Amino acid sequence: MATLIVNGTLVTASESLKADLRIEGEKIDRIGTNLPCAPGDTIVDARGLLVMPGGIDAHTHLDLPISGTLRASDDFETGTRAAAFGGTTSVIDFVSPARGQGLMAALDTWHGLARGKAAIDYGFHMSVVDERPEIFAELDAVLDAGVPSFKIYTAYPDTLMISDGAILRLLTWSARRGTLVLAHAENGSAIAELTASLAREKKLAPRYHAESRPSILEGEATARLIALAEVVDAPLYIVHVTCIEALEAIRAALRRGLDVYSETCPHYLFLAEEALRRPGFEGAKFVCSPPLRPQAHAQKLWQGLALGDIDAVSTDHCPFDFDGAKTLGREDFRKIPNGLPSIETRLTLMWQGVLQRRISENRFVELVSTAPARIHGLCPRKGVLTPGADADIVLWDPNKEVRLDASALHMRVDYSPYEGMTLRGAPSQVFSRGECIVDGEAFLGKPGRGQFLRRAPTQ
Ligand code: URP
Ligand code: ZN
Ligand code: ZN
Repeated sequence: MATLIVNGTLVTASESLKADLRIEGEKIDRIGTNLPCAPGDTIVDARGLLVMPGGIDAHTHLDLPISGTLRASDDFETGTRAAAFGGTTSVIDFVSPARGQGLMAALDTWHGLARGKAAIDYGFHMSVVDERPEIFAELDAVLDAGVPSFKIYTAYPDTLMISDGAILRLLTWSARRGTLVLAHAENGSAIAELTASLAREKKLAPRYHAESRPSILEGEATARLIALAEVVDAPLYIVHVTCIEALEAIRAALRRGLDVYSETCPHYLFLAEEALRRPGFEGAKFVCSPPLRPQAHAQKLWQGLALGDIDAVSTDHCPFDFDGAKTLGREDFRKIPNGLPSIETRLTLMWQGVLQRRISENRFVELVSTAPARIHGLCPRKGVLTPGADADIVLWDPNKEVRLDASALHMRVDYSPYEGMTLRGAPSQVFSRGECIVDGEAFLGKPGRGQFLRRAPTQ
């Protein structure tokens, strides 16, 4: 039995056209008009709706353990369900080994977190937070296990940062094997000094989190990482770009013809540093790293998205409840768990860029779906509307209103950074491999139906 989506406007990264789309099993079968229809086929009337490839969120931290017993509040079940409600049909999550833990052991742990729970398809990136030779000896096995992207941090010296030498070693291996290194770019050692100095002055309110991590130190780390990649001719992907300084470093690299990719996140486009100054302890709700920046940076990021300097928009979804988690840092910003919830609201927020004429609807599709699929090795299976691709499809209602209050959303977190906002543009139906998993307010998917996306080297 087939499903026919009729009367809609197909919107891809390259064009918008009136056409129907036929789904057979898990795949897109054909696109056109007067498509064959047999008794028993399901007809979906998409009049007034846009038919788009499902969103791909290439940066999530579901069920991420941080310190003690604290974990990101969405696990693979609640997080992927919320993602689906927002129009996202695939995520790529970060396997985050504890220092000292083997990479393959950590990969096993993450498979265990996702298996039986994920409602949409998922892949993994591997974080390399330890530079011992035993860790590097495992890289080939990780690649063979379907994980061809590796994340490094130039921040968090006590837990995640590795040295420039180790980064260069990873980039060298990566260039040889055709994999991609993803980088969190902030100067961790300088941040540690600034943080200690703020603490000595008893400047421990949430807003000092941002003061301890100035944008110039993101720009410096971005330029340094690009230099390291250039030395060994390796491609590089900068995660969560927040500021003008980093964007300028990326632009300079692109002008030199380097293979540098980047993403930003909705919160760097829609929120600003002043949120950290909200009265009481409310500012803690906006603590993430890199931090929110003054408004002027967002303007430049939008330009970067429109001009093609920034390739994608991912979420860095890393939610923590306000009560009991963010409040751990009531007396000291260093104890506030870093991260914001966003897996469900990414498409609706980015759609505002279309409404405000900052980006076209085709660029929107490219940023939230097609580019992440291409960069991370999921194309042509995902991120496109072409025969043979997975039928991961969003029927987008440009007129549907969504309240961004925590009480109206599905993420498992007790607050929303966008409380009080109502925006236009949301999915009316979401298909994952041909199955309708969201229909209006109803979730029809099942935990565990999501499949692991084994990826091959892309470069
Ligand atoms: O604040 C954030 N972004 N937390 C998640 C970890 C990371 O740095 O991406
Ligand atoms: Zn990061
Ligand atoms: Zn992250």
